[in-house]
Amino acid sequence: MNTPDQYSPVSGRYDSMTYNRCGRSGLKLPAVSLGLWHNFGGVDSVDNARAMLRRAFDLGVTHFDLANNYGPPYGSAEETFGKIFSLDFSTFRDELIISSKAGWDMWPGPYGNWGSRKYLVASLDQSLARMGLDYVDVFYHHRPDPETPLEETMGALDYIVRSGRALYAGISMYPADLTLRATEILNSLGTPCLIHQPNYSLLDRWIEDGLLEVLTEEGVGCIVFSPLAQGLLTDRYLNGIPEGSRAARDDSYLSKGQVTNEMQTTVRRLSDIALSRGQSMAQLAIAWVLRQTAVTSALVGASRTAQIEDAVGALDNTDFSAEELAAIDEILAV
Ligand SMILES: NC(=O)c1ccc[n+]([C@@H]2O[C@H](COP(=O)([O-])OP(=O)(O)OC[C@H]3O[C@@H](n4cnc5c(N)ncnc54)[C@H](OP(=O)(O)O)[C@@H]3O)[C@@H](O)[C@H]2O)c1
Repeated sequence: MNTPDQYSPVSGRYDSMTYNRCGRSGLKLPAVSLGLWHNFGGVDSVDNARAMLRRAFDLGVTHFDLANNYGPPYGSAEETFGKIFSLDFSTFRDELIISSKAGWDMWPGPYGNWGSRKYLVASLDQSLARMGLDYVDVFYHHRPDPETPLEETMGALDYIVRSGRALYAGISMYPADLTLRATEILNSLGTPCLIHQPNYSLLDRWIEDGLLEVLTEEGVGCIVFSPLAQGLLTDRYLNGIPEGSRAARDDSYLSKGQVTNEMQTTVRRLSDIALSRGQSMAQLAIAWVLRQTAVTSALVGASRTAQIEDAVGALDNTDFSAEELAAIDEILAV
C-alpha cells in the first residue's frame, strides 16, 4: 500500500456533520453515510479505498455500510475493509457504526441465499471473520424472502442481536406492509427494528407511497441508498459515459443504456436548480432525500475522496422552498 502509514483523524471531525436520531432509538447516524458496494472490492485499489475511508471519517462520516457479497468478488469489500480497519480504525471502533447484510446470493447451495436462520447466522459469522470484528453495529436482512416465514427471518435477527454478533437489527427493501409485519414480530421478540434501508432518489420515489409513513409510526429509522441513482444524478454523464465510471464498468449494475438523452436533459434541468442553490447536482440530489424528516441518513457511494467531500457539502443547504420543490416535481413530471 502506498498510502501514508500513520493515520491520525482530524480533531474537529465532529464539528460540522449533522447527526440524526435513528427512528425512536438511542442511536444517531451521520446525515451522510458511506457504502462500500462498489470500489472497495478485490479488483479495486486498496490505497484509494483507504484514502476514502480516512477522508470520510475526518469529515464526521461515522457510518460505513457493507454486505456479505460486496466486491467483486463476493466478500472482498469486507476483506478490504477489515484490512484497513485493522491498520487505521481499530482504536476508533467505538466511534464507528459498521453494518453488514445477508439476503442475496452468497455461496452455492440452498443455504447461501434468501432468509433462513441457517443462512443469516452463518453469513454474519463469515462477515465478522472477513472484517476481523467481534460484532457489527447493524445487521440487515437484505431483501424479503417470499418462501421463508417472516417469523423465522426476524427470529434469526433477534437471535443474532441476543448472541452479541450485532447490536441492532435492520431490514432492507421490504415493502410497507411487510415492514409493518416485520416490526411487529421484532417488537414482540424484544429486539425492535432499528432501521430500514430502501433505495430512494429523485428518480425513484416508491418509499413515499406508504413506507415512510409506516417507518414514522413505528419509530424505525431510514437510511436511503443510491440517492445519486448510482451516479446518474450527478454531472458524471452529462457529456457521455466517461472511462472508469460505473456505467462504463462491466461489473456494475448501472448499464450504459440507462444514460439516455432524456436522462441527460432531466439532469441538466435539475442542475440549473442546483446552481441557483449554490450546489452541485449531487448535492441537490442528496439534500432532496434528506428533506424528508423520516430519512435519517443518505447512504452514498464514491470512487474518490472528492465525491465524499461533495456529498458532505450537501449538508450546508438542505432546506427547500415550496417553489423549488414544485419546480423539481415539474421536471420529474410527477
Ligand atoms: N440495501 C441494498 O439493497 C443496497 C443496494 C445498493 C446499494 N446499497 C448501499 O448503498 C450504498 C450507495 O449506493 P450507490 O453507490 O449506488 O450510491 P450513489 O451515491 O447513488 O452512487 C454512487 C456513485 O455515484 C458516483 N458519484 C458519487 N458522487 C459523485 C459526485 N459528487 N460527482 C459525480 N459522480 C459521483 C460515483 O460513481 P463513479 O464510480 O462513476 O465515480 C459513485 O460510485 C452502497 O455502497 C451500499 O452500501 C444497498
